Amino acid sequence: MIQLVWAQDRDGAIGRANTIPWRVPEDMRRFKELTGSSPVIMGRRTWESLPARFRPLPGRRNVVISRNPELRADGADVVGSLDDAYALVGARDEGTTVSVMGGEQIYRAAIGGADELRVTEIDLTVDNADAFAPEIDETWQEVDRGEWLTSSAGPRYRFVDYRRIAD
Ligand SMILES: NC(=O)c1ccc[n+]([C@@H]2O[C@H](COP(=O)([O-])OP(=O)(O)OC[C@H]3O[C@@H](n4cnc5c(N)ncnc54)[C@H](OP(=O)(O)O)[C@@H]3O)[C@@H](O)[C@H]2O)c1
Repeated sequence: MIQLVWAQDRDGAIGRANTIPWRVPEDMRRFKELTGSSPVIMGRRTWESLPARFRPLPGRRNVVISRNPELRADGADVVGSLDDAYALVGARDEGTTVSVMGGEQIYRAAIGGADELRVTEIDLTVDNADAFAPEIDETWQEVDRGEWLTSSAGPRYRFVDYRRIAD
């Protein structure tokens, strides 16, 4: 099972200047719950956006996608494509869960082959955002929409899950 996990503002923004432009600890907790000890796959820019002390994400395989064959990412595997990332972690194997954790380029590449979307909606509007979530088109069905909750850090947020509509 391949899930895409992201948080977005009201306009679908996910980033600005290679950072996430809000702080919602409850979303980070949910990310940990959803991704557990299963592999995480991310683009090179998202890897670099993680503070050095938080990478690799502990307790699971970290896979970084880059076109640069020289790239080294301490504690992570570097691969040259999304398909190589999936092959490395056995993404299509029965009983395996794999989480794609961004950023924009990698979500766009992955959404067509994904099974589930785990979206956190943050109730704010980011100025000058430069990274956005992929479009959720009619091949997706909303399966759960949580209540708006208020973060200990301020913003309101809610969790919305989608599943691919079977062919
Ligand atoms: N809100 C959220 O939930 C969330 C989650 C994650 C990230 N973000 C944000 O998203 C932004 C980063 O997104 P981004 O789109 O700029 O970068 P990204 O998707 O994290 O990484 C892009 C890099 O991935 C590699 N890449 C992309 N497509 C590839 C392909 N087809 N084959 C091989 N390598 C490929 C390239 O690396 P090389 O240049 O090394 O070749 C490319 O520069 C940041 O602002 C970050 O904070 C937000």
